[in-house]
Amino acid sequence: GLISDKMKAKGKLYWGSALDPNTIAITQIANIAATGDFGCFTPENSGKWDATEPARGQFNFTGFDALVSFATSHGKLVRGHTLVWHSQLPAWVSAIGDAATLTSVIQNHVSTVMGRHKGQILAWDVVNEVFNDDGTFRNSVFFNLLGENFIDIAFKAARQADPNAKLFINDFNLDGPGKKIDAMVALIGRLKSRGVPIDGVGTQSHLILGQVGGVAGSIQRLATTGLQVAITELDVRIPKPVTAATLQQQQTDFNTVTKACLAVPQCVGITSWGVSDKTSWVDSTFPTFDSPLLFDDNFQKKPAYTGVDSAL
Ligand code: XIL
Repeated sequence: GLISDKMKAKGKLYWGSALDPNTIAITQIANIAATGDFGCFTPENSGKWDATEPARGQFNFTGFDALVSFATSHGKLVRGHTLVWHSQLPAWVSAIGDAATLTSVIQNHVSTVMGRHKGQILAWDVVNEVFNDDGTFRNSVFFNLLGENFIDIAFKAARQADPNAKLFINDFNLDGPGKKIDAMVALIGRLKSRGVPIDGVGTQSHLILGQVGGVAGSIQRLATTGLQVAITELDVRIPKPVTAATLQQQQTDFNTVTKACLAVPQCVGITSWGVSDKTSWVDSTFPTFDSPLLFDDNFQKKPAYTGVDSAL
């Protein structure tokens, strides 16, 4: 038991979870989160642009402050999530029409949000999901007005705002070979050659049962950039109906992913995207799937938990 403590004993920084005031409010989740099973929390929604700057220059840190307060009062780390992302982005940002305004809006957002808990945040996902699956840049107000330079702008502002935080680029579908991970590795090379301050690459790892065979290779490939690597949003969703056999497969899959991080010195930690299946985003986002996490709907440890524990 106590998988974050065991991660640390293996030289990693944490096993973490997404968490926020809505899930802290569930007593069973708060109790589990306080144990040595979890050593780092990522605000599931409260650090996003729509939550933190719903109107230009009007900041709201109610949820983010509560998450940081829970974490620090329990001696846990925090991964900040996320500063520049096309999703959960207020309409006023998407409506900006010129590069100069957008640049100063990004700089002000990054410096204000990161400044809030300066010195208390282990790492920040500075930019999130900049790529399409084919490795081209995703259309967003950021890319459309600024091109790739929006990434440079965000990271430079981030380093200034909190020099102690490790600065990450984060994305999904980096779980095997293909154009998306190629594009990510190539971008990191360009950023480093331009002197952009970047410290890490996050692979979200929203995985499907039985489809985790590429993860170990991906972690190794991302580590060739020289950056830190983190598994930032791990879940393994099971096609409905969930059976004893598929829960067993999920145990194997979590074991495989945990070992993939352990095998690579630059992999600093693993964050699962929630504590309990009861509150996972999978329920609403992937309605034909279920039960992606380590604790079940009744807050009991699943075989998946044993899969992690036995890797450590
Ligand atoms: C999800 C949250 O879990 C949901 O509660 C919310 O409704 C939508 O966002 N990639 C990310 C995360 O980087 O921020 C997303 O979190 C899941 C996909």
